Amino acid sequence: MPKLLLAPSILSADFTRLGEELAVCESSNADWIHIDVMDGRFVPNITMGPFIVEACKRVTKLPLDVHLMIEKPERHLKAFAKAGADNITVHIEACPHIHRTIQHIHSLGCTAGVALNPGTPVGAIEAVLGDADLFLMMSVNPGYSGQKFISSTVAKVKEIRKRLTALKSSARIEVDGGIDAETLPKMKKAGADVFVAATAVFKHPKGTKAGIKILQAKLRDT
Ligand code: DX5
Ligand code: ZN
Repeated sequence: MPKLLLAPSILSADFTRLGEELAVCESSNADWIHIDVMDGRFVPNITMGPFIVEACKRVTKLPLDVHLMIEKPERHLKAFAKAGADNITVHIEACPHIHRTIQHIHSLGCTAGVALNPGTPVGAIEAVLGDADLFLMMSVNPGYSGQKFISSTVAKVKEIRKRLTALKSSARIEVDGGIDAETLPKMKKAGADVFVAATAVFKHPKGTKAGIKILQAKLRDT
């Protein structure tokens, strides 16, 4: 069983103190930093670009997990790799040439992820199950943090894990959206091994450190 990983999403961090927020993630032994890139076209919201990735790279040693919620992501892969992305995830819904896009990400020295919206059938990623390093199952419709977990996505994680196991693949399954102390165990049981959380970490009433600790305890629970 691979190590279960926690990836705080800086979408809910306090951007006036981003360096401090990242330092807390690092000292609390979070595993990856998740960076949500939105273009106002693939999703309604606009967030950050390579500039922020580069700023994070300067202040943290944690791997940067860049989630591109943008149209035609192939136009920007090089810029994100150059800015310091370790993993780049693109959406299957935005990539008619997904096989080529995965190869492109690998050629830039990054691991490659393929994300799926809640409304996209698991069959959409079938052809590249053996090619990507990570599959990201969205458990909310992408665009904003703080949304309600969509429980029908648990079965989809199970289905992806079943298909990866059949292929003897060690690819990771990341879940993203509405992940908190209640929903994390359900996704863990279904076969996810990377857990993204924005609100449950950075907006935790007891602070970022406490938010991380609570989720880490759920990762360790058997
Ligand atoms: C949603 C983003 C998520 C988001 C998660 O479009 O991809 O990474 O930040 O936020 P929470 O954990 O608050 O649902
Ligand atoms: Zn995300």
